[in-house]
Amino acid sequence: MIETKFKFSKNDVVIVLTGAGISAESGLKTFRDHDGLWENHKVDEVATPEAFKCDPELVWRFYKQRYFQLAEVKPNPGHLALKKLEDFLGNNFMLITQNVDGLHEQAGNERILEMHGSLRDCFCTKFGTNFKMQDVDLNPAVPLCKECGAALRPDIVWFGEIPYYMNEIDLVLKQADYFLVIGTSGIVQPAASLAYLARMNGAKTIGVNLVPPENMMFIDEFHQGRSGEILPELVEKWIG
Ligand code: OAD
Repeated sequence: MIETKFKFSKNDVVIVLTGAGISAESGLKTFRDHDGLWENHKVDEVATPEAFKCDPELVWRFYKQRYFQLAEVKPNPGHLALKKLEDFLGNNFMLITQNVDGLHEQAGNERILEMHGSLRDCFCTKFGTNFKMQDVDLNPAVPLCKECGAALRPDIVWFGEIPYYMNEIDLVLKQADYFLVIGTSGIVQPAASLAYLARMNGAKTIGVNLVPPENMMFIDEFHQGRSGEILPELVEKWIG
């Protein structure tokens, strides 16, 4: 039996931040649990512009593997609980995600800001033209732009790059009555600071995570456990 002291009304603005933990029960590995390694490379080391410059084939191999994995996974009850929350709140809901897997969209959420980009997209390194991965020939070790022949790169925000939607995120944080942080270690900036910023702006902050995250000090109510197991019940209580 999960207890929460909060109850949302349709007038409350609820902003949610998710990380890799919410997709763990769909079968996608998180970044920092387990050994954090991929083919003996630190995951963080293949997620930088420098790594791409130095060894684009290696970086593409990493992202192709992750992209192909998406065909085998589907949203879990944690994702579906957030769809239910959006259905209840409508325009007063916004989902900021660090995830690039598209599972929130698959679950039916519409108000989503994918701050770290999307594994289903890539763009031309010369002219910035965007492509859907599904429309690109992924056979070459480094896929090429079909318009100009330059190398494509995955549309992922790498370490050292500025996340997408920072202006929109700044705006919604100012309006938030509640800020939920789900399945994220609270290590990677600027996402790790959003709970702090929301709280400074007067929001109540709620965390759901397998273990207490690094930014635990900014969380007013914390629920420890698997989001797929506890979020459905929590959402029922918040909106019931
Ligand atoms: P992490 O791997 O750092 O953290 C995932 C968190 O989810 C950990 O605190 C886990 O304990 C928790 N967790 C695991 N399983 C869970 C479950 N079933 N339910 C709830 N929580 C669970 O992933 P992120 O915080 O998302 O960036 O990492 C942030 C960014 O670092 C990523 O977006 C990625 C990465 O490098 C880029 O690729 C740019």
